[in-house]
Amino acid sequence: MPDSSSVPPETVAVRPAPTPQQLALKRQYPTAFDLRERARRRLPNFAFEYADGGAGADNGIKRNWNALDAVEMVPRYGRVVSPPSADTTIFGKPYAAPIGIAPIGGPGTAFPGAETYLAHAAQAVKVPYTLGLLSGIDIERAAEIAPDVLWLQLYRFSKNDHKIGLDLVRRAQEAGVNVLVLTVDTPTRTTRPREVKSGIMNPFKLTMRLRLDAMRSPHWMRSLGRNGIPRFTSLAPYMEPGIDLAKASAFIRRESGGAFTWDEIKLYRDKWDGPLVLKGVMHPDDAERAVESGLDGIFVTNHGGRQIDALPAPIDVLPEIATRVGGKCTVLYDSGLRSGVDAARAVALGAEAAFAGKSFLWSLGALGDRGPAHLIDVYIDDICATMGQLGCRNIEELRGVITRHPGAYTVADFTSAQ
Ligand SMILES: Cc1cc2nc3c(=O)[nH]c(=O)nc-3n(C[C@H](O)[C@H](O)[C@H](O)COP(=O)(O)O)c2cc1C
Repeated sequence: MPDSSSVPPETVAVRPAPTPQQLALKRQYPTAFDLRERARRRLPNFAFEYADGGAGADNGIKRNWNALDAVEMVPRYGRVVSPPSADTTIFGKPYAAPIGIAPIGGPGTAFPGAETYLAHAAQAVKVPYTLGLLSGIDIERAAEIAPDVLWLQLYRFSKNDHKIGLDLVRRAQEAGVNVLVLTVDTPTRTTRPREVKSGIMNPFKLTMRLRLDAMRSPHWMRSLGRNGIPRFTSLAPYMEPGIDLAKASAFIRRESGGAFTWDEIKLYRDKWDGPLVLKGVMHPDDAERAVESGLDGIFVTNHGGRQIDALPAPIDVLPEIATRVGGKCTVLYDSGLRSGVDAARAVALGAEAAFAGKSFLWSLGALGDRGPAHLIDVYIDDICATMGQLGCRNIEELRGVITRHPGAYTVADFTSAQ
């Protein structure tokens, strides 16, 4: 633990006292899993399966959760820690906590209007919101809603010398996006059995089965009525006008795919004037290569167990990666986050911040537009309580907490596997 005398005094804006409505929500849905159970009951089956399902038999998801649960943190006592502050700085910008919203493609399938609600909630509280490229609001609209906290995720659109990809970079720059994220961990398309069994097709098609399923959920239908059928709005300028959802989905399948190569990453590095992050790094050598390629940050993640369920849990590879590149780039974490305790674990093991995907969709499925703000609140309260319990007054001190981490990969594990 760092010497407490070197830590500056608390400088954090006090969070406003909770309203009676917020308190009532906290009593009813104190955890992300409470929201998950309500979402399961309130959403159409396909929407919940899209939001919640993983690759294979969901073993990657379970591994992510179990690996987080196995990380222990040792408290220190003897000084006043109340109230701890979760304020932090990422890429030079202040945020209310080291907790962010991970990019989610097609979130309107899980809950129509999801992007708008997530962007508003993140901007209000000042936590990072990463707009997935395949979203129902475009980059420009997202930047209007969430100017201080907007990050943008891109997939690889490589045709015609990355014409679409680089135009998206230009638009992101003009719109004032704060951080650009290149996703690298989807080199091939994989299937999620729960999604397939629920009737979702790729390319997407609004079949009679999905319509009937949707009609069983007044909650989802009300939001559809307010927000309209989800579309891939950021990509609309590159498609024929008025194209339907099935054709738009086929267009994306045709135009995108594969993982960015190191040469391509340099191309984006040259064009993007701002923090650039590579999402999907799971090996320390790739982390080093990312630093050499001029990236400012990496996301240690296994895509929340959605791509393949044979990957290690990212929390288990995080410390080794952070040791190798922590001083040279910003290490971010996602996969399996269900609480502020999980976020604290990731920070204690070397991440600057921890992001969540599925749980934000659960929050929308459970509570609609009120969901994301409630979940952010739950996460921030929880990380503050965790810090207090551990004897940390601020995030800097949390980084120095002693951990026990039985699943941690070592350098030898990585090299012997080669
Ligand atoms: C429905 C859904 C769609 C996703 N779409 C994308 C995407 O378009 N791009 C991306 O980089 N990650 C995508 N992700 C992965 C998340 O960014 C993140 O890595 C993952 O959800 C974190 O794990 P968690 O869900 O356990 O919190 C998606 C996740 C979900 C749940």
